[in-house]
Amino acid sequence: MGYQAVYERAMRDPEGFWGEAARLVDWDRPWDRVLDTTNPPFYRWFAGAELNTCFNAVDRHVAAGRGDQPAIIHDSPVTGTKESITYAELKDRVAHFAGALRDQGVVKGDRVIVYMPMVPEAAIAMLACARIGAIHSVVFGGFSSRELATRIDDAKPKVMVAGSCGIEPNRVVHYKPLLDEAIELAAHKPERCIILQRPQEPGTLIPGRDLGWAEAVAAASPADCVPVAATDPLYVLYTSGTTGQPKGVVRDHGGHAVAMCWSMANVYGVKPGEVYWAASDVGWVVGHSYIVYGPLLTGCTTIIYEGKPIGTPDAGAFWRVIQEHGVSVLFTAPTAFRAIKRADPNAALLANYDLGCLRALFLAGERCDPDTLKWAEQILKVPVIDHWWQTETGWAIAANCLGIESLPIKPGSPTVAVPGYDVQVLDEAGHQVARGDIGRIMIKLPMPPGCLPTLWGNDQRFVESYLSAQDGHYLTGDAGYMDEDGYIFVMSRIDDIINVAGHRLSTGGMEGVLASHPDVAECAVIGAADELKGELPVGLVVLKAGVARDPAAITKELIALVRDQIGPVAAFKHVTIVERLPKTRSGKILRGTMKKIADAQEYGMPATIDDPAILGEIEEALSAIGYAKGR
Ligand code: COA
Ligand code: AMP
Repeated sequence: MGYQAVYERAMRDPEGFWGEAARLVDWDRPWDRVLDTTNPPFYRWFAGAELNTCFNAVDRHVAAGRGDQPAIIHDSPVTGTKESITYAELKDRVAHFAGALRDQGVVKGDRVIVYMPMVPEAAIAMLACARIGAIHSVVFGGFSSRELATRIDDAKPKVMVAGSCGIEPNRVVHYKPLLDEAIELAAHKPERCIILQRPQEPGTLIPGRDLGWAEAVAAASPADCVPVAATDPLYVLYTSGTTGQPKGVVRDHGGHAVAMCWSMANVYGVKPGEVYWAASDVGWVVGHSYIVYGPLLTGCTTIIYEGKPIGTPDAGAFWRVIQEHGVSVLFTAPTAFRAIKRADPNAALLANYDLGCLRALFLAGERCDPDTLKWAEQILKVPVIDHWWQTETGWAIAANCLGIESLPIKPGSPTVAVPGYDVQVLDEAGHQVARGDIGRIMIKLPMPPGCLPTLWGNDQRFVESYLSAQDGHYLTGDAGYMDEDGYIFVMSRIDDIINVAGHRLSTGGMEGVLASHPDVAECAVIGAADELKGELPVGLVVLKAGVARDPAAITKELIALVRDQIGPVAAFKHVTIVERLPKTRSGKILRGTMKKIADAQEYGMPATIDDPAILGEIEEALSAIGYAKGR
């Protein structure tokens, strides 16, 4: 069956379609209904069924004879180590860590926050939670202790699992002190912290609260898989919200397992036993879905890569990993390829490697610029597939589904709606716009299995944030258009979210931090175009009247403040002090116009602008810090 037929079948008969797909998963109890529609807008997949995600990702493969196959390969150029873990070993290690969690009192439904670098223990901790029905919440290591504290207060974990340190090429990240500080800041106090002591920087354990990973495991007996409801939460993953307060995206067990297995086969065209590599981080949704769950649920070998595309040691790092481990499909963000292209424009290092094993490259996380797509196609000589998705959906909304049919590629487009997603482009009044016209990209409910059923502990925010813009539709937050052939083009966000090196950040959150500085009267943060990272945040601040301090000292403090309060991942390095900010007559800051100025794009004078002269001042200030060039 070709793409069109599969898509139409999924639309016409979602229950039949996903009921069939569910055969890829082993269930402890069958569902009462494939799709429970009794409580709209809350739709639930596989209601009444029971399963265990860890059993499906690990134990069943051992039972089926894959015990000796590598499940996880940890390749860590930053520590100079490599480790291969078979499915049989993984089962043993996960069962023991699950036992260790159980020994600390963790039971079904309890939350466990995982704050770890790219080590196999991060995946082991996630799977161990799934094994006993606990809910994990992985927090990316590049976030500050304050961001971690916010997540602790929202998820209220019983136990924290952390690495003692992370290794970035330029420094050691002090996870343990960051963890201690976060717990200090948080109102909720986790009962226990299990710390993976890494030799590069072991952490100081707090007596009575902290326990070493090795000791916890040594004392534990293996735990069995606990069946859970398909509709129970598997994890909560926090993502930037428009207010700066992160949203706890909930993922359920049943729909997720089905979506992961189906997408591995049909979107990525990957078979059990193959090596699949998502070069991302376990702290992001890409890491959850396609470093851990997708490949393992499918019986693939997954790679946990603790390194960068460049500098560890050079721009041939990806080629080495692909060749050395026999990677069939690579998934990363376009920014990684932009980084490689910048360091090695002719891909000269590629000549040292044989990439015959590679079938396809998938890119996502940010808009893929046609230049990067074409460069990757040219050097790799395999299909390069841009696909579009977000933390909330957990898997691709639009893609070129290689496992179904390889459609022609149109650079700039992540191709067509994936079966199960009724993607529509609507105007403000909720009407479909004409093909080729830009509008808000929405998904008609119900969304397919795997997409978020709600936000953690906050059904109301779920409905308000995503389902209230247009009755019966999910608001993706992206704007774009669909062409005559149904190809989707995702152009920009309709909110304050920016995308920095594939990392999703809220400019509102950064503005909140800048505004907390005692010298700042008001401020704006915009996402200015960046050749490497796609976008970079740029701050514009107005000082309080009478502040006579050295502007350079203030900007330095502001940069340090954002790094401290949000984290290095924000890559907040540019801020400029201005006399005033351009506003509409009703007082709304004209961020969009300032972004256009920063990017040296044409802009129309906003009809409602209060004082047009301010735009000239902004241009001057931005050009002084390297923006607004060529205007
Ligand atoms: N823990 C602590 N700090 C981290 C971190 C982690 N897990 N990951 C990144 N950081 C830090 C970096 O050290 C850097 O700090 P610095 O300001 O001191 O240099 C900062 O956060 C920004 O990191 P990053 O966005 O990774 O930028 P970079 O300049 O180090 O590298 C790329 C740029 C393009 C090489 C890198 O972003 C990359 O490999 N991206 C590819 C894929 C990807 O991760 N996509 C995500 C979603 S699919
Ligand atoms: P995240 O939730 O961090 O995965 O970020 C999701 C957001 O990243 C989307 O809503 C888009 O704005 C952007 N994004 C992800 N993939 C793509 C893509 N292929 N093309 C354009 N934008 C993308």
